[in-house]
Amino acid sequence: MSRLKRVLIILTTVVVVIGLALGGGVLYVYSNAKVSTAGTTEFSNELAVPPLAKSTVKRDGTRLFELTMQAGQKEFRAGKPTPTWYFRGSGGRPPGDAAGGDYLGPTLRAKRGEKVEVKIKNALGEESTVHWHGMHLPAKMDGGPHQMVAPGAAWTPRWTVNQPASTLWYHPHPHGKTEKHVQRGLAGMFLLDDEKSARLALPKKYGVDDLPVIVQDVRFSGAKFDHGHKILRDTGFLGDRTMVNGTLDPYKVVGDELVRLRLLNASTARVYDFGFSDDREFALIGTDGGLLEKQARMDRIQLSPGERAEIVVRMKPGEKTVLRSFPHDSYGGGWQGRLAGGDDSFDVLELRAANALRPSPDIPGELGKLEVPDGSDSVRGRFFGLVTTGINGKGMKMDRIDETVTRGTAETWTVRNDHGTPHNFHVHDVQFRVLEVDGKQPPPELRGAKDTVFVPPHKTVKLAMRFDGPADPDTPYMYHCHLLYHEDLGMMGQFVVVEKGQRAGTVRAPHSHTGH
Ligand code: C2O
Ligand code: CU
Ligand code: CU
Repeated sequence: MSRLKRVLIILTTVVVVIGLALGGGVLYVYSNAKVSTAGTTEFSNELAVPPLAKSTVKRDGTRLFELTMQAGQKEFRAGKPTPTWYFRGSGGRPPGDAAGGDYLGPTLRAKRGEKVEVKIKNALGEESTVHWHGMHLPAKMDGGPHQMVAPGAAWTPRWTVNQPASTLWYHPHPHGKTEKHVQRGLAGMFLLDDEKSARLALPKKYGVDDLPVIVQDVRFSGAKFDHGHKILRDTGFLGDRTMVNGTLDPYKVVGDELVRLRLLNASTARVYDFGFSDDREFALIGTDGGLLEKQARMDRIQLSPGERAEIVVRMKPGEKTVLRSFPHDSYGGGWQGRLAGGDDSFDVLELRAANALRPSPDIPGELGKLEVPDGSDSVRGRFFGLVTTGINGKGMKMDRIDETVTRGTAETWTVRNDHGTPHNFHVHDVQFRVLEVDGKQPPPELRGAKDTVFVPPHKTVKLAMRFDGPADPDTPYMYHCHLLYHEDLGMMGQFVVVEKGQRAGTVRAPHSHTGH
């Protein structure tokens, strides 16, 4: 054999070995990426229901809540205390609270027309914020990255609730750190009621036939959370199991024929495709911003991070059914679908019907009244191209105002995912109507009021929204991808609402509220 031949053989061998190793590695990553708890879950823990937050009413009628962000711990699994962060409500934990640990926060509840005030205390070792996701309120009260609360300080936003009955939520929003702060346990629900919703014959006994269902995916390493991102995944954190209201493997005994589930995807990156294990139909009655005009029957509903859906499911005496998240191909399948979690499935919550059920009235034919514009009076359009590094080619900058909108006007925003990676789009302060998905009429689950919408790879959505102010040229609201890793990376922009003819002001450098 000539020297050349030998060298060639060795080189070829080396190349083949490296190729096999890489290929094997990729194959290994691919096949290990799929996770499923469907059909194997024991449902051994009773579902915790976050307590309703205590409030006091001040002399001028303002409803006052108090929330403290602090560190704690919770035994998600017996004998394994996990360090957490959570919101403590005033009055502490109610006796006999099934939550039995420090995680998430109490459910705030207020009525349309009511003045609310929330005293936020930061007892964490670092600064954070509390944002009211889905709430229409002045920019200074929004709790975005410009309203930082220093450790040891307090911040007391106040506003008047002026929007329909809905399932909103609250969570921190410190720029670059939102994923971490939410994952540690800082999130809670904020329910709004109005006169019409109070009269409707819908299930509304909180914790009985009207259940908050805060879904998060999680992974443990020993007693601790494992928040690491796995390699070759650009969506951010994906867990290997789910929990509801901080309860692993949860079941809930229900005693009514109709049960309303207020589904909130409070996961940081995972998209769920919810349905029931027996494929039963359910009624969708509400989306992010409130009740639909009429129920829509379906057997699956997809929720990307930050989205909510209110569904009503009918139970028969003595039966069980499982709320499950099914595999879905909205990532286009293949490599991206697998690594972004599209092939995963989870048993989320088991509903166990009692042997005798209280009769429930049928779902009313007419529910809410949509208050979102239909695009016909939009005074201008804007375009937002999504890639992980930023929106319209720009990464988030705290001192740059990206868009200026006029108070009282409606606009049509076109949002396109220019990417193979899943993204979604959330706009602060407003609810919008989805006019089109890829030029077509949106499916029933996107026909209600929304503040967050999934934008799968290479899809385009068209949204109509109205900016009712109040104007504040110096304080921006955010729009961003609600896959929190992407938001943290800079997939976020800022808009201000101004009076007609007014110019955007200057955004001051972020400063922490240090008052008490
Ligand atoms: Cu739920 Cu800007 O956030
Ligand atoms: Cu928000
Ligand atoms: Cu994204």
